[in-house]
Amino acid sequence: MFDPKARYVRNLFSKVPLEYDVLLGLLSFAQDRRWRAYVVNRAKPLKDDKILDVATGTGLLAADFARTVSSKGFVEWVLARAENLPFRDDCFGSASISLALRNVSDAQSTLREMSRATGPGGIVISLDFARPSNRLFQLFYYDYLLGLFPFFGRMVSAAWGRTLSYLGRSILRARTGEQIASLLREEGLVDAVSVPLTAGIVCAVYGRKR
Ligand SMILES: C[S@@+](CC[C@H](N)C(=O)[O-])C[C@H]1O[C@@H](n2cnc3c(N)ncnc32)[C@H](O)[C@@H]1O
Repeated sequence: MFDPKARYVRNLFSKVPLEYDVLLGLLSFAQDRRWRAYVVNRAKPLKDDKILDVATGTGLLAADFARTVSSKGFVEWVLARAENLPFRDDCFGSASISLALRNVSDAQSTLREMSRATGPGGIVISLDFARPSNRLFQLFYYDYLLGLFPFFGRMVSAAWGRTLSYLGRSILRARTGEQIASLLREEGLVDAVSVPLTAGIVCAVYGRKR
């Protein structure tokens, strides 16, 4: 099936992986570590649990999960579309998607697939950029996001300039945490909540499979 968004996003991210981890740390003022720690904490993986991290990119969150579930924790990479996961029902302890629900072609199918592959009692969690609610903070943040972000990106490479300019635009269009929580409820997850982190720059939204 021809999906222009999937092709656009694939091209965008295929050209930037080397600098990704460093730039994410710099541009988030190292908050990204805190955000990932929050996700791992919420999912509360048990020892030797298998955790699914969808759209893992360079695998930062997957590596954090691997270290938590086992001292020898390792990451197994599978290339697949988030909307159509090649895994059996109920086979993971929990499932996460980080900074990527905005990017997938179909967020509802992605959350449905994550929920299907998660076992009863497991957590399905999305961490993603959101819009802060404080008006004063918004003034600074949007200048940073829409002006400085692409500017810094262009200093690294043309590809990063395009990626960071896309990032700002996609955040302005993104679903709110509450809207994502509603999608989780539609997939039958219970106790779904949205938790703003770092003044609402990102939201962690999660629910539990019955
Ligand atoms: C901004 S990166 C996030 C990477 C990582 N999860 C993190 O937190 O740093 C977005 C990732 O989503 C992936 N992606 C976008 N659409 C996808 C889809 N439909 N299925 C699977 N992966 C997708 C991209 O390839 C890219 O690796």
